[in-house]
Amino acid sequence: MLVSARDMLIKARDGHYAVGQFNINNLEWTKAILLTAQEMNSPVILGVSEGAGKYMTGFKTVAAMVKAMDECLGITVPVALHLDHGTYEGAKACVEAGFTSIMFDGSHYPIDENVAKTTELVKLAHDNGISIEAEVGAIGGEEDGVIGAGEVADPAECAKIAGLGVDFLAAGIGNIHGKYPANWKGLDFEALDAIHKATDNIPLVLHGGSGIPTEMVKKAISLGVSKVNVNTECQLTFAAATREYIEAGKDLEGKGFDPRKLLAPGVEAIKATVKEKIELFGSANKA
Ligand code: 13P
Repeated sequence: MLVSARDMLIKARDGHYAVGQFNINNLEWTKAILLTAQEMNSPVILGVSEGAGKYMTGFKTVAAMVKAMDECLGITVPVALHLDHGTYEGAKACVEAGFTSIMFDGSHYPIDENVAKTTELVKLAHDNGISIEAEVGAIGGEEDGVIGAGEVADPAECAKIAGLGVDFLAAGIGNIHGKYPANWKGLDFEALDAIHKATDNIPLVLHGGSGIPTEMVKKAISLGVSKVNVNTECQLTFAAATREYIEAGKDLEGKGFDPRKLLAPGVEAIKATVKEKIELFGSANKA
């Protein structure tokens, strides 16, 4: 059932668990995540980056596929179709295409411009009955493997953006997208606590959810994180399972080259990863 992410995240915040955002890249990814969320009776958020949207030929294609798949699979758990790290233009395009949630990442703008653009998009999202996430304090990405810490957001800036009426807020607390480097300093729980206290109980979002030790994830949830984003871990498990299939020569046996067979181990690997995360985040049976 396609819905805004607002209510599921308020429920998560009040229930002290988190809902997973799993990024999608194609039909296989979408199907694996939807089926697992249904099996676990868990709410779920499908994340679509601008790049993934382009890869799938546009946000309209994505929205049409997700809507039809949700219906054809008989999915009854709440599912939000969410733009991940949207630009100003991308956010508008996703509202138009029928997404049920958007993220506007204005973290690279000076704070005043982030405020102005976020304000406009909050109105647009809410006029259309969908939820909106904003970001303060850019969340770094793996560049050369030498980054030891992600950026940490300023609680006063977080309060300013949270006060604009966004439904949930991504704030940097030392987290990084992609694989964590060996010299990573870990999440900054003091910063998280200060941000949580400054932002009037708004559901907080932890980006870069792949590869964070489970105890750190649990602690972050206990300190106000209600949404955890996972992308890289599904990509890694998909790739490893596909590699194993091919290295075992299975694509050369019988009809093993059929994409429905070739991609099946990867799909099962995504399902296992999503299941593990839903258990860790505590959202099973919270649909
Ligand atoms: P990872 O790829 O590190 O899991 O991060 C996902 C994410 O935060 C998407 O916004």
